[in-house]
Amino acid sequence: MHITPNFGNDIVIHIKELKCMEEKMNEPTGEDMLTNRQGHPVTDNQNVRTVGNRGPTTLENYDFLEKITHFDREKIPERVVHARGAGAHGYFESYGTVGDEPISKYTRAKIFQEKGKQTPLFVRFSTVVHGVHSPETLRDPRGFAIKFYTEDGNWDLVGNNIKIFFIRDPLKFPDMVHSFKPDPVTNLSDPERMFDFLALTPESMHMITFLFSPWGIPANYRQMQGSGVHAYKWVNEEGKGVLVKYHWEPKQGIKNLTQKEADELQGKNYSHATQDLYEAIEKGDYPEWELFVQIMEDGEHPELDFDPLDPTKLWYKDDFPWLPVGKMVLNKNPENYFTEVEQVAFGTGVIVDGMDFSDDKLLQGRTFSYSDTQRHRVGTNYLQLPINKPKKHVATNQEGGQMDFRTEFGKHQNPHINYEPSVIGGLKEAENPGKEHEPHVEGEVKREKISRENNFGQAGETYRRFSDFERDELISNLSSALAACREEIQAKMVEMLTQCDEDYGKRIAEGIKKITETRVDKMEEAVQTAEDVSHPSDPY
Ligand code: HEM
Repeated sequence: MHITPNFGNDIVIHIKELKCMEEKMNEPTGEDMLTNRQGHPVTDNQNVRTVGNRGPTTLENYDFLEKITHFDREKIPERVVHARGAGAHGYFESYGTVGDEPISKYTRAKIFQEKGKQTPLFVRFSTVVHGVHSPETLRDPRGFAIKFYTEDGNWDLVGNNIKIFFIRDPLKFPDMVHSFKPDPVTNLSDPERMFDFLALTPESMHMITFLFSPWGIPANYRQMQGSGVHAYKWVNEEGKGVLVKYHWEPKQGIKNLTQKEADELQGKNYSHATQDLYEAIEKGDYPEWELFVQIMEDGEHPELDFDPLDPTKLWYKDDFPWLPVGKMVLNKNPENYFTEVEQVAFGTGVIVDGMDFSDDKLLQGRTFSYSDTQRHRVGTNYLQLPINKPKKHVATNQEGGQMDFRTEFGKHQNPHINYEPSVIGGLKEAENPGKEHEPHVEGEVKREKISRENNFGQAGETYRRFSDFERDELISNLSSALAACREEIQAKMVEMLTQCDEDYGKRIAEGIKKITETRVDKMEEAVQTAEDVSHPSDPY
């Protein structure tokens, strides 16, 4: 990736100073001196040790072996999803209120209580489907994950830019992701695989409607929204819980790309979003987002035509207003991409006192998956890495495992007592900071869909609420993708989209037909006008 160095307009580096810097850089003293990882000075980094200058090489070549073996291991598995990302440091500043009310009415989480209180954080933005170096212009949800280093330990809010999701049952996630990824035989991306799965997944119609509209390609990371998607819970001092949804609104405004704009951009720069974020922060143009929440009493809400725990549904602003609770500022770029952006590990299980999980099945499935993959992707002791470690005292009897490099063992811990309880010493359980939230749950254990699926209602409503421009783009993008699929899949999709909204289904059917006919005409034309172009001669 090419990042233009930003020296600022007012900084002129004098040629004399540059020469001086150059001379200094060539003096291998102090911190500049190249060493191996044992701290030994490396005096020749150009030539391996050989018998004579033509070889063979010798096996006791420790510097070379140390260098090459480390290089052989310098990559870790990429994230199974959201592999391509960019990150930044910053802080969250609380307003101390939720709308007009004191926030303590709903949550006792310390991060929110005091007006003006700042909490450091790290954000990682990402695309979902393709690998670490894939273009950032692809039509894909964007990840929006934040690690807040709070005084009560870490809180991770792992969301996306779009406020809803494709599915509501975690059992379907691996199949969904497989269908979106390239074919396991050809390694080619193929929309037919994706729509083969989605045509049998009616709950995905709402997400598809957003994804194939301009909302599916945010212009960059600074000008996109973020959303926690799920209903989580807030818990107050009395242990009372309410459902809460989180949303981030960019102060830079929202900007999306049309497919044409994205295609043009991709031809020039496939890292535009990473570059945009990095350069904005380098030049002091710090991006900001305001955090809003929507609050709903916990319960089934039979008055709604959807289940409040269903992540494929929006809670409409008119019914559940967005209430501001604070803002986030990103003001520092990572010092190292690998140790920060690559090794950072977020998870939906990482919440603090004053928060809880809702019964959203997808959320609960996710909560297992994240730390599981991170033990594999980063390693057993991934929580000891500086980017993942809480910025507060950590004292645990969990120990050992590969690369256990703890240096703090807790001030009051008797180092002999690595278990609990103990009359001799060691760590003691913390006091409960407030009344436990104890929701009542009962029912039969079963495998069953939720009763208010309403798969098409909100998708149709979103289609109707779009501007003409957004609707036209959606029809054009979705028809093009479906035109690459077989007829059974097209028919199933058109049938479901018609149930969302008649006009929607009709226009997609017409769109597919038009593209298919044009394609046949063009192919016939190409066959008729094809010339016999012989291969150029090989000049070598
Ligand atoms: C990353 C699983 C749904 C947002 C990941 C990773 C896994 C995963 C295994 C890789 C984590 C890592 O290697 O560190 C799942 C499962 C889901 C699910 C099993 C459903 C059952 C969602 C949803 C959202 C989401 C609904 C948005 C609300 C993200 C984000 C990342 C991610 C933002 C990237 C985090 C980062 O930047 O490191 N997911 N996911 N996922 N997921 Fe999910």
